[in-house]
Amino acid sequence: MSAPRKGALKEVQAKAGKPAPAQEKRPGFAPETWFPAPVWSRHVPDHERINAHILSVLEELEANDRAITRSNVGGWHSAADLHLRPELSEIRRIIGNACAGCATHLSFDFDRFELIFQEMWLNRNGPGDFNKAHVHPNSILSGAYYAKVPPLCGNIEFYDPVRERVMSTFPVKERTRANTQAMEYKGKEGLLLIFPGWLQHSVQPNRSEESRVSISFNMGFRKKAG
Ligand SMILES: [Fe+2]
Repeated sequence: MSAPRKGALKEVQAKAGKPAPAQEKRPGFAPETWFPAPVWSRHVPDHERINAHILSVLEELEANDRAITRSNVGGWHSAADLHLRPELSEIRRIIGNACAGCATHLSFDFDRFELIFQEMWLNRNGPGDFNKAHVHPNSILSGAYYAKVPPLCGNIEFYDPVRERVMSTFPVKERTRANTQAMEYKGKEGLLLIFPGWLQHSVQPNRSEESRVSISFNMGFRKKAG
């Protein structure tokens, strides 16, 4: 066994039957975490019925409306004004209520301001389609609701917004929330994910033979009237 280099802090060995100090429970020693990057998730009840309706709306839109391109490479991306369509009012209400809960968590001032939908759109990623890494500029809260999720259709990946952290990477025994610089969520039908618009994310390529369908949205705010 080689002698530790001068100045190196030795790993503290546990004595028989006793945990090493690093493993001891130390109440009050956990750090306070500042500048969080929250991702909220919720499973929408009755999503089978809601999703069947969303898929029928998608079919109609694809037949009659134009597609646009944003972060998507391939796939079909609707116009971004679907929050104005009465046929999608139910999912709009569900998303809006969930976002209000997230904003309350962030101490948003609902006395003087209100949250508003800025954009809402439908995505259909076919086999091989994906979304490049991107943010949603000028959006307080953004997210995705999953209407159709075949196996292997691509997870959504989130990236550590603190770019400076790459300047002090260090070896770790395991990836945890405290040290990771990327993480991913597997989509699931009925899952609603909400996150700050500044949190960079991408969607992996769809490796299935079927399409993956989701609704995305951007929330803003305005001063209340009066
Ligand atoms: Fe996005």
